[in-house]
Amino acid sequence: MATDTGGLSVVRTRALRRGFGERIVLRDIDLDIGRGEFVALLGRSGSGKSTLLRALAELDYDVPGSGELTVPAERAVVFQDSRLLPWIRVLDNVILGTSGGGAAERGRAALAEVGLAGREKAWPRQLSGGEQQRVALARSLVREPELLLADEPFGALDALTRIKMHALLQDLCARHRPAVLLVTHDVDEAVLLADRVLVLDEGRIAVDQRIELERPRTHSDPAFIRHRSLLLASLGVGARPSTHEEEKQAS
Ligand SMILES: Nc1ncnc2c1ncn2[C@@H]1O[C@H](COP(=O)(O)OP(=O)(O)OP(=O)(O)O)[C@@H](O)[C@H]1O
Ligand SMILES: [Mg+2]
Repeated sequence: MATDTGGLSVVRTRALRRGFGERIVLRDIDLDIGRGEFVALLGRSGSGKSTLLRALAELDYDVPGSGELTVPAERAVVFQDSRLLPWIRVLDNVILGTSGGGAAERGRAALAEVGLAGREKAWPRQLSGGEQQRVALARSLVREPELLLADEPFGALDALTRIKMHALLQDLCARHRPAVLLVTHDVDEAVLLADRVLVLDEGRIAVDQRIELERPRTHSDPAFIRHRSLLLASLGVGARPSTHEEEKQAS
């Protein structure tokens, strides 16, 4: 399902196919992601979301496949666990592998942006899970990526921390404008954050839904509820009709 991004795609795949042995996981995926566009990717467990994300990250050199793939060189990847190195301090984790002068300064600025000013010298184990994910975000930001790939980055966090991380991610994206592919199981998270929501099913992009709602978005907005219901239905989860829809049906 190729989408017109006005020739400004940072991601472009055509007939992208990946499989393991006999099992084809991605079947001829045509996907465009525009510059600065925020795309959320939903799908049942095992539907191939991480396989697609790893393909876009070019981390799947061990996975047989075919098709065309164009991605920018400046990419950052965030996973469910922060993957910080435990034996180096927070600031050094953030700037590890970056080159050029002023790395420490940029690292400090990124930590400040995620609300962790003053924790530069802490060890990763001295931070909470949410704080470690903030460091992971700072580490990706410091690279000023054109494409941010995030595989369930908030999946291991409690509900309250998640809400704070949503606000933080929205803030960071508004400021740095990377294109984003966010893999999530959480339909609300997808509708809250994304410009477009995709659903992967049977190796194909079965749904490509544009979310044209003002930000900040609220869960109680009838349009939000409509998007959520449609997406839940496409995931095979029966959603209770929203109050708004019930009213419409009753009238
Ligand atoms: N290295 C591998 N070797 C063999 N099969 C694999 C490998 N990695 C993934 N698969 C299979 O590919 C399919 C898609 O896996 P993938 O991890 O992309 O799913 P997912 O949508 O991310 O699932 P989840 O929501 O549970 O994270 C699954 O059936 C999985 O078993
Ligand atoms: Mg996965």
